[in-house]
Amino acid sequence: MLQERIADLSKCVEPDRVRREVYTDAQIFELEMQRIHERVWIYCGHSSQIPRTGDYYTMQIGRQPMLMVRNSDGKISVLYNRCPHRGNMMVGDRHGNSGEFFRCSYHSWTFHHDGRLKNIPMMDSGYSGTRYGHDNPDCSMKRAARVENYRGFVFASLSHQGPGLLEFLGESKVAFDDMCDRAPEGEVEVVPNCFRIIQHSNWKIFLENQLDALHPSVVHQSTGRAAHEVEKQIAKKAKKGEAPLSYHMLSAFATVTIDKWDAFQTLNYPHGHCILTGYMGLRPQDPDTLAYDKIMIKAYGKKRFEEIVGVNIHHVLIYPGLSVQSPLQQLRAIRPLGVDRTLTEIWHFRLKGAPEPIYRRSLAYYNLVNSPSTLVNADDLENFWKCHQGLSCDGGDWVTFGRHLGRDIEKDGRVETAPNCGTSEAPMRNQMKAWAEYMRG
Ligand code: FES
Ligand SMILES: [Fe+2]
Repeated sequence: MLQERIADLSKCVEPDRVRREVYTDAQIFELEMQRIHERVWIYCGHSSQIPRTGDYYTMQIGRQPMLMVRNSDGKISVLYNRCPHRGNMMVGDRHGNSGEFFRCSYHSWTFHHDGRLKNIPMMDSGYSGTRYGHDNPDCSMKRAARVENYRGFVFASLSHQGPGLLEFLGESKVAFDDMCDRAPEGEVEVVPNCFRIIQHSNWKIFLENQLDALHPSVVHQSTGRAAHEVEKQIAKKAKKGEAPLSYHMLSAFATVTIDKWDAFQTLNYPHGHCILTGYMGLRPQDPDTLAYDKIMIKAYGKKRFEEIVGVNIHHVLIYPGLSVQSPLQQLRAIRPLGVDRTLTEIWHFRLKGAPEPIYRRSLAYYNLVNSPSTLVNADDLENFWKCHQGLSCDGGDWVTFGRHLGRDIEKDGRVETAPNCGTSEAPMRNQMKAWAEYMRG
C-alpha cells in the first residue's frame, strides 16, 4: 500500500522543493486522480459546443470518461459515458447528436438526456418481479455529482463535497469575465475543433510551465530571434515601416528579455490558482482595432470600454486543469492520462459581435504560439519530456522552487510576488501547497 511505502505524503512537499516521485510514481498518480481531479471542479467544455438538444461532447475527468449533453429544456447534463446495464460505453464518438434520447448500441436500453432510464426492450415481461426498472436509480446513467456553468464555461465535480464553483474559482473567474467582456455581445462562442496534444510527461510539469515567466525568453528565444530578423527586413522594405502583427507575436519572445519578464507580477490564490499580470501590447492603432473599439464603445460606453480593454492579464491558471489566455480568447484544458502521459486540449473562442479581422488576429496567435505546429509549443514539449526523463532517474531526489523565495508578499489571503520578482517560482510553490492540501484527503 502506498501509505506504508510513503508514510506521510506531505513529506514529499516542502515549501521550496518537491520529491521527484510526485511526478513519476504511478500510485501517487492514482491517488491524485482520486483526491484532486475526481473531486474538484474540472472544466468540461463551452456551452456553444452543444447548441442543439441531444448534442453531446465527451471528455475525461480524472480517470472517468464523461460526456456533457444538451437537454430538451436547454440545461446541460454531465454524465458518465457508461450504460448501467452491462457497462457498454454509451457514445463512441468524441461528439455528435444523440437524437431524442440516448440508445445503447448493445441491448437498446434508452435514456433521457439527463441520464434517467427511458425504456428497456420488453421491460414488463423481462423485468417484472426483479429489482430493475424505472424506480431503481442504478438503471439510469450516472450523473456527475455537481454541474455549474459560469458565462458559458461548463464545469463538473464528481464529488458532492467541496466549495461551489464560484467560491472555488475565486479571483480566477476573471479569466472568463475578461474573455467575455471583450465581446461586444458579452459572450464568446467556441471555434470548432480544438488542437489535441499528448505530452509524454506528468500533468504538473505542464501546469508549472504556464506561469513560469523565466522560461519564454530562454526556451523560445530562437523562434523569437528568427521572427525578429524577418520582421526587421520587412519593416525596412515596407512603406509604412511595419511588419504584420503576427511577426510581433513571435519576435516578442526575443525582444521581451528576462529582466522585462521580472517586471510582470504573479498573484497566487487559494486552491493553487494564479494570475500572471501583463499584457501583450496587442492594442495597436490600426484600422481593424479602431473599428473594433468603435463597436465596443457603442456597446458599453467609453468608460466601461476603457475598463474592459485595460484589464492587465496575461494568463490565468485554474488549478488543477486549466490555463486561460483571456485577452487572446484561448484556453488549454489538461487531461491527465497516466503518470507520464497528459492530453492537452487547446481551444479557441470567437468574440461575439466583434469584426472578423479581430478574430483572425487571435486565430493567428493561436496558430503561431499555442498550436502543435509551432516551434514555440515544440520547444516547450521537448523540455516537458526531458524533465520527465530526468525526474525518472536517480540523479537527484528533489525538484526545487526556490527562486525569489522569502520575497513574496502575503495580502488578503493571496500571495503576490514582490516588485521586479515576476520570474519568481511562487506559482509553483502555490500549486504544490494546494496539491499537499488536497492529498491530505
Ligand atoms: S450494455 Fe447497454 S443495453 Fe446492454
Ligand atoms: Fe513556453
